[in-house]
Amino acid sequence: MEISIISESPKETRILAAFLTQAILNYHYYCLNKKNALIISLEGDLGAGKTEFMKGIAESLKLKNDVLSPTFLIMKKFDLPEKYHNNFSCLWHLDCYRLKNLKELKSLGFEDIIKDKKNLIFIEWGQKIKKLLPAKSWVIKFKILDKNHRLLTFKIPIAKKEFSESN
Ligand SMILES: Nc1ncnc2c1ncn2[C@@H]1O[C@H](COP(=O)(O)OP(=O)(O)O)[C@@H](O)[C@H]1O
Ligand SMILES: [Mg+2]
Repeated sequence: MEISIISESPKETRILAAFLTQAILNYHYYCLNKKNALIISLEGDLGAGKTEFMKGIAESLKLKNDVLSPTFLIMKKFDLPEKYHNNFSCLWHLDCYRLKNLKELKSLGFEDIIKDKKNLIFIEWGQKIKKLLPAKSWVIKFKILDKNHRLLTFKIPIAKKEFSESN
């Protein structure tokens, strides 16, 4: 499934992020059959809006603002409110911009983190770690159109099994 949306301002990008995250966190059917973490790879050039998108998530979930602290290096974990725990317990924000190699990420326990189905993981610069990402990871591509316009393309693989009639 693929859908493209044009965002006309940073605020629109934040609102879009909030919509998507709320939908994922509340969509029990999707979560019923999943076996691993849900990974969402945020891809696009510097300044394309990936961090702006994360800001929208932080706002909508009232996560502490240090989501975006400049000292933030590679990986951060946030406990989600209890009302979502049937589906997800933790939200992770990774930024692979400064990542030197895959080993660095493995040493942080990334491979275990992506196995835990209670994890919802957003990865800025996910394209840098494609080799570590399961094929069914979601991708959001950010393209700069002009000063305030960004084209966001969502690629959401839906396995038939995950949406079988028995759901
Ligand atoms: N429609 C838009 N969506 C997101 N950011 C936008 C948009 N229009 C302008 N911007 C600006 O572009 C920049 C995006 O920066 P940032 O989110 O840090 O990019 P990235 O994390 O992809 O490098 C911000 O300065 C933001 O204000
Ligand atoms: Mg960024």
